[in-house]
Amino acid sequence: MTTPTDDRLDLAALAKPHLTPVLGRYFERSWSHGVGHRLFDTDGKAYLDFANGIAVSALGHHHPAVTAAIHEQVDRLIVPTGAIGYAEPVVRLAAELAATFPEPLDTVFFLNSGSEAIEGALKLARRVSGRQAIVSFRGAFHGRTIGATSVTSSNINYRRGYEPLLPEVHIVRFPSVYADFDGDEDRATRTCLDELRTLTRSTVPAEAIAAVLIEPVQGEGGYRPAPAAFLRGLRSFCDEHGILLIADEVQTGFGRTGRMWAFEHAGIVPDVVCVAKAIANGLPLSAIVSSRELQERWGRSAHGSTYGGNPVACAAGLAVVRTIRDERLVENAAARGAELTAGLRRLMAEDDRIGDVRGPGLMVGVELVQDRATRSPDGETCDELVARCADDGLLVLSCGLAHQVVRWIPPLDVTSAEILEGLEIFGDALSRIPRAGGGGS
Ligand SMILES: Cc1ncc(COP(=O)(O)O)c(C=O)c1O
Repeated sequence: MTTPTDDRLDLAALAKPHLTPVLGRYFERSWSHGVGHRLFDTDGKAYLDFANGIAVSALGHHHPAVTAAIHEQVDRLIVPTGAIGYAEPVVRLAAELAATFPEPLDTVFFLNSGSEAIEGALKLARRVSGRQAIVSFRGAFHGRTIGATSVTSSNINYRRGYEPLLPEVHIVRFPSVYADFDGDEDRATRTCLDELRTLTRSTVPAEAIAAVLIEPVQGEGGYRPAPAAFLRGLRSFCDEHGILLIADEVQTGFGRTGRMWAFEHAGIVPDVVCVAKAIANGLPLSAIVSSRELQERWGRSAHGSTYGGNPVACAAGLAVVRTIRDERLVENAAARGAELTAGLRRLMAEDDRIGDVRGPGLMVGVELVQDRATRSPDGETCDELVARCADDGLLVLSCGLAHQVVRWIPPLDVTSAEILEGLEIFGDALSRIPRAGGGGS
C-alpha cells in the first residue's frame, strides 16, 4: 500500500463548520491510515489499536485478504442485488456464516448495521409470535433506531427526548456480578431470573412476550458478562413459555470472546442471533441469523433492505470468516485474552484503583473504582487513563454508565508481544495519574 505523506491535517478544525456536532467522539485526533494493528494520525504518529473502531476491524487494518477481496469485488459488481436476484459473495457468505453456527441456525438475512439487525429481529419476533411484549436488560445497548433505542438502557442520553418509544418493552435487571452482587454469580443469576419471573406475575403475562433480547456480554453497559447459568436459565424460561431468545452478538461475535459466538460459553442456542461490526472488518454489513423455519414463518417480503447484503461488503465478510477459520483466530483470541487478563490482574494486585478485571477472551473490561470496598465507579480516572494511553500510543476506549470501565478490544490476530506492549503503556499511564487525595505521582 502507499503511505500518505501529504496529509498533516488538523481534521478536527476542518470538521468544525460543517460536520455534525451530534456524534460523540472519544478523541479529537485526525486519522490518516491504518496498517496491521497500528493506526496512524496525520502527523505520522503510530498507535497500537486496541479499539478497532469499537470491535469492527477485528483483523486489524488493511488486512491483505480482506483488501484483496474488496478490490476484486469492486471491479466486478458493487450494486446490491438483493431485490433483483443473487450475487455470488452474498450467497457464499450466507452459507459460510451459517456454518459457524450450531443447528438449527442456518439462515441469514443481511442488513447494514447492528441497529438494523436488532430492529429486524424485533419485527421477526412480533410477526412470528403474534405477541407484542419484548424483554431487554438494564444497561443494554442495542443501537440507535427507534426500536433499538426502545430496548436500550445503558445511558439516558440514548433515550431522553425520544419517548414515547416502542410500547410493550419491559426492561429488567441484568446480573451485573461485580457491581451489584459482590462477585457472586449464583446470587446474581437467582436474583435476576426471579425478577424476570416476577415481571410475568405482576406486569406482563409470559404468553404475551414475543422475545427476550440479551447481549451475552454487555458492551457499552460496561463489558459485563452474563453468567452462563443465567443464560441457561433464560433459555429454559423462553422454552417454557414459547418465547424467542434473541442474542445480540453485534459486539461479542466473530471470536471476540474466545468462542466464535459468546452464547457458546453457556452451551445454549438462541433462536435468533444479531451480528454486525466485525463481520466485514469495516464495511457496513450486519445479519440476522435464525433457523430457516423461523424465517419462513416471518414470511416473504415481511422485511427488506435496499443495501443489505451489498456484494462488496459480503466479499469482505467472506474473507473475514475464512481468515478467522483458517488462521484459528478464535483460539488465538482465547490464548491472548488469557495473557491480557493475567497481565491486568497483576496490575490490579499492585493498584487498588482497579476494582475488577473481567474477560472473556479479547473482550476485557477493567473497572476503575474510588474505593474497592464500595465499588464506587471512578469515571474521572478512567477518562484520564484512556487519554494518557492515547498520548503514549495505545488506543483503548471506555464504557459503562460512568465511563468507569476501560475496554480492551485488540484484534483477533494480536500477538503476545503486542499484548505486553499494551500492558506496559497502560500500567505506566495509570502509575502516572495522581490519586484522588494526593497519593501517588
Ligand atoms: C451490542 C450492540 N448492539 C447493537 C449495536 C448497534 O450497532 P450499530 O451502531 O452498527 O447500529 C452496537 C453498537 O455499538 C452494539 O455494541
